[in-house]
Amino acid sequence: MYWENPTIIGEVIGVFQPSHEGYQQLGNLTHHMKAWAEIYLLSLMDVLITSPWSTFGYVAQGIGGLRPWILNNPQKEMDYDLPCHRATSMEPCFHFPPFYDCQVKRRTDTGARVPYVRHCEDTRWGLKLVDEHEL
Ligand SMILES: *[C@@H]1O[C@H](CO)[C@@H](O)[C@H](O)[C@H]1NC(C)=O
Repeated sequence: MYWENPTIIGEVIGVFQPSHEGYQQLGNLTHHMKAWAEIYLLSLMDVLITSPWSTFGYVAQGIGGLRPWILNNPQKEMDYDLPCHRATSMEPCFHFPPFYDCQVKRRTDTGARVPYVRHCEDTRWGLKLVDEHEL
């Protein structure tokens, strides 16, 4: 859309993807450096829109101090009416956190124990840090 049209106030918006890697190549240092450059560029954006479960998104939002908009994706557990959902913090989601309470010796909701750890927007069981004063 922005390729052919400026915004309402005439700004030109460009979308750049320098690497064009296409798929992950484990162990290829050149490939890793290109991935890192992409993540760093994302972190410099004024506004960040990420896919659910995106490692690139998580790292970029963390180093950029950005609270991203996460695209809705029913396959990744997101099923809101709106196309995007604002993240509660810049922190990444820990997808597979511990869930066992050693004191009571059973499964527990580790997202309900302290006010600064909550379940993620993009996965029901994942955990992330939040600033409880900003919620
Ligand atoms: C490693 O990645 C670079 C950059 O994408 C690519 O040009 C090169 O062919 C890759 N090397 C191997 C061994 O796949």
